Amino acid sequence: MHEDVKKVLFTAAEINSRVREIGCDISTDFQDKNPLIIGILNGSFVFVADLVRQIEGRCQVDFMAVSSYGSGTESSGRVKIIKDLSISVKDRDIILVDDILDSGNTLYYLCQVLEARGPASISIAVLLDKPSRRAKPITANYTGFEIPDEFVVGYGLDYDDKYRNLDFIGVLKPEIYNK
Ligand code: IMP
Ligand code: MG
Repeated sequence: MHEDVKKVLFTAAEINSRVREIGCDISTDFQDKNPLIIGILNGSFVFVADLVRQIEGRCQVDFMAVSSYGSGTESSGRVKIIKDLSISVKDRDIILVDDILDSGNTLYYLCQVLEARGPASISIAVLLDKPSRRAKPITANYTGFEIPDEFVVGYGLDYDDKYRNLDFIGVLKPEIYNK
């Protein structure tokens, strides 16, 4: 526990077992393929690291960084690529991996950008999903947990670039972002 966290949603052990299941599903779905795993920085770095170690068979890993011009706890519709991929996505099966699907603005934009580069297929894996917040028509192929509309931190997820190192996922005390 951490003094800024109101309650724990998922313990390290619960996350670990769900990530294993997702890795298993991806291994089955992409058997004999060589998917390109694309982590969206910064929030996905912990999830990507754990997930790829649960994928059997070949895969490659690359990262993109985006800023969503968000203030505080909201992202905006305007997404900007800060760091692009090093590996070409042309004719590749790509799996976009993010920490959380919230409004959907980030992944919706990235799907459009990447689609234009001619991949063989695009899939999406997110650890968390807040379906009640969706502003864009986008769904994940692999979802760890659905959560209510509360601001969460830990396991890569931050507020103000803090709390990414927590090994569990917890709800941040509202007084932290309201002050
Ligand atoms: P979207 O574009 O609104 O779907 O937002 C996606 C990004 O917003 C995620 O990659 C996170 O960085 C951030 N985000 C959304 N909800 C939360 C949350 O509850 N905690 C921490 N970050 C969040
Ligand atoms: Mg993020």
